[in-house]
Amino acid sequence: MPDPAYVHAAFSSIAARYVTANHLLSMGADILWRARAIEKIAEWQPQRLLDAATGTGDLALAVQRAFPETDVVGTDFCRPMLDVAVQRGLEQVLEADAMHLPLPEASFDVLTVAFGLRNMADYEAALREFHRVLTPGGHLLVLDFSMPSGLMTMPYRMYLHHILPKIAGFITGNSSAYDYLGESIEAFPRDEAFLDLLVRAGFTMPTQLPLLSGIASIYTAQA
Ligand SMILES: C[S@@+](CC[C@H](N)C(=O)[O-])C[C@H]1O[C@@H](n2cnc3c(N)ncnc32)[C@H](O)[C@@H]1O
Repeated sequence: MPDPAYVHAAFSSIAARYVTANHLLSMGADILWRARAIEKIAEWQPQRLLDAATGTGDLALAVQRAFPETDVVGTDFCRPMLDVAVQRGLEQVLEADAMHLPLPEASFDVLTVAFGLRNMADYEAALREFHRVLTPGGHLLVLDFSMPSGLMTMPYRMYLHHILPKIAGFITGNSSAYDYLGESIEAFPRDEAFLDLLVRAGFTMPTQLPLLSGIASIYTAQA
């Protein structure tokens, strides 16, 4: 399981270059994945949406733009990442550990977490905390890396473990943060294992939408 102190230090060190690195390393695919997430969220017509581990705010900003009537809060435990989110126009941020949110239960009808849960020390405990702050019947959306199957697996692993850390190290000055990225993706439960985890954490009706041959997935469930 990821070490929170390491995760906090790693994201603090790359905050200023995180957005550029993200778009370059995914060759823009992360933008399309967030657009798919927005399509999904649109079905739920959110009133109060919490974006956990919002980082530099990409998903929260996309929600804020797409649904101007929605009350959007981005939360993260890494101040330098939140500072970038605010500079980019995110209106409401909260510095907090997603595993212990300083929020009352049932206070949001939608909770999103993009590329964040994988970095938390205990996935199931984090999901239980998300369940707590969601209204009964509220919607959870998790966007994160999974692992492509079949012919794509080997070339993807080669990119993830050998090529990506070198390019990312060049862009951000911290290649170890990107060695960690590959390790965290390998360790993160995917497909059926993740759907089972959602149910263990108290959610119902779990679904998975694989993106780009399964390199990433959007999972949804109801509280
Ligand atoms: C890969 S970034 C993702 C940021 C953003 N959601 C996106 O899609 O670009 C992961 C974020 O998770 C945050 N994070 C990791 N563990 C956390 C925790 N326990 N509580 C709050 N934030 C956490 C990090 O600080 C970092 O900003």
